[in-house]
Amino acid sequence: MTQYQLAIVVGSFRQESINLKLARALSNLGQAYFTPTWVRIDDLPFYNQDLETALPPEVVRFRREIGAADAVLFVTPEFNRSIPGVLKNAIDWASRPYARHVLVGKPGAVIGASLGKIGTAAAQQHLRGILAPLDVYVMGQPEGYITFTPGLIDEADAVTDESVRQFLQMYVDRFAAWVARFAGAPVER
Ligand code: FNR
Repeated sequence: MTQYQLAIVVGSFRQESINLKLARALSNLGQAYFTPTWVRIDDLPFYNQDLETALPPEVVRFRREIGAADAVLFVTPEFNRSIPGVLKNAIDWASRPYARHVLVGKPGAVIGASLGKIGTAAAQQHLRGILAPLDVYVMGQPEGYITFTPGLIDEADAVTDESVRQFLQMYVDRFAAWVARFAGAPVER
């Protein structure tokens, strides 16, 4: 089976982040399809167009990692009914130069976990709205709104609830099929 290089971007730096746990669980479930690149965003400076003339090495690395990937998985918390500023900052860095940036033509997926019932639905809606005009082809279905209960993902990054595990496996299977549709497609920048 073809292995795809998957850039994973998590919108939380927190050590005990439930979204990082979710991302790790998804990475495990997707081992048959994806080789992950865990893309750091915590070392990126605040976006400033002045820095485009002499890019900070962290930004160069970040763009290179996204650019080298076959697909991008965004795993986001919801902050105040939107995505965290740190994730928006990273996407702003990725999104330049206009129309010729590293996200153009990439297949992607968004998912997220929160403690509440809506499971980051509002944040994901915003994220889809941000990614569409950047020409990221975000998988429409399945949507993954994960309500995180204590112990849902264990220390070995395994999903302990069988119905959630099955859902996440289906999510990953469908994402791999989505990515396969775009494999080898020419990207016009
Ligand atoms: C939150 N949280 C939250 N949860 C939610 O479902 N909807 C929301 O709008 C918000 N807003 C929000 C704002 C801020 C500033 C914080 C710090 C938190 C709670 C959030 O889901 C919870 O803290 C998660 O654990 C954050 O994800 P990580 O860091 O664990 O991945």
